[in-house]
Amino acid sequence: MNHRQLGKDGPDVPVIGLGAWPIGGGMGDLDHSDCIATVRAAIDSGMTLLDTAQAYRTSEATLGRALKDGYRERCFLATKVSRQYSRKDIEHAIENSLRALDVDCVDLYQIHSWNPQYPIEESMETMARLQEQGKTRFIGVSNFNAAQMQQAYDMAPFHANQPRYNMFDRAIEAEDMGFCKRTGIGILAHSPLGKGLLTGKYAPDHVFPEDDERARSPRFQGELFARYLAVADQLQSVAAEKNITLVQLAIAWLLRREEVTCVLVGAKNPDQVKEHVGAAEVEFADGELERIENILQEAESIRR
Ligand SMILES: NC(=O)c1ccc[n+]([C@@H]2O[C@H](COP(=O)([O-])OP(=O)(O)OC[C@H]3O[C@@H](n4cnc5c(N)ncnc54)[C@H](OP(=O)(O)O)[C@@H]3O)[C@@H](O)[C@H]2O)c1
Repeated sequence: MNHRQLGKDGPDVPVIGLGAWPIGGGMGDLDHSDCIATVRAAIDSGMTLLDTAQAYRTSEATLGRALKDGYRERCFLATKVSRQYSRKDIEHAIENSLRALDVDCVDLYQIHSWNPQYPIEESMETMARLQEQGKTRFIGVSNFNAAQMQQAYDMAPFHANQPRYNMFDRAIEAEDMGFCKRTGIGILAHSPLGKGLLTGKYAPDHVFPEDDERARSPRFQGELFARYLAVADQLQSVAAEKNITLVQLAIAWLLRREEVTCVLVGAKNPDQVKEHVGAAEVEFADGELERIENILQEAESIRR
């Protein structure tokens, strides 16, 4: 597995990490033993960065169980405080997360999203204090734009932002990516498969079960769903010509940008993990990126 440095002076982390939202049950109920096997398969195959959050239902507790037997020591463990960011909320949340994960400290603690109800000065001061106390080795934010990152960074320098970034969601390319590069902030790209749109396995008439977040997402219903899947079909042809899968193409395409430190992919079983790992080696020949770009222009028109 290739590695990249997190931020300007952070540790080296693998270019592909495991996103632990699905193992919390947010994309449909999963068997507990499958979850444990998925986490361990990821770590065994080099995807040693694991990302979870306070808000990911049972994810932290399941991860805690998977990280027994020496797995904790082999991974870079990231979690987030979600929704409420007063000093009290953050201090309370990290204790709960440490307890659920059954660890003394995490490697990266992130503010899950920007919430104007809470002064960023107080939130970042608290995050910096947790770092000083050794409850987290590094701090970061998630879903912050450039202006928000600037305000947060002025209070306490941090190592990572975790934005949504995939072939269908490219908003960060306009400004936020450049800000991260100039400031020395690493990017952990979330939702890299568009939550399943970029896997090639769904037909437009697919109905997601009620306990899967996609059952309520407009992108996974009707005409909109069909239009995204039609673009994914074209991308799948490019992948097939390269002898890789669409999933691997979608991950490797994100890594074409040096600003992306790590792609956080959600997985539900060890087979999916195996496929993700294969993406780390994929390279693009002359003209391939341009061809993909032309296809993606169509996705842009869906968004407008
Ligand atoms: N900071 C934030 O606000 C935020 C938001 C979202 C996500 N995240 C992080 O980013 C991570 C990744 O995002 P995500 O899990 O939401 O979505 P994702 O990685 O885009 O998609 C994950 C889903 O795609 C399907 N899939 C994965 N690998 C596959 C494979 N090899 N073949 C076929 N299907 C495959 C699985 O669902 P099915 O098999 O059921 O299709 C899986 O649950 C999260 O787990 C979380 O850690 C953060």
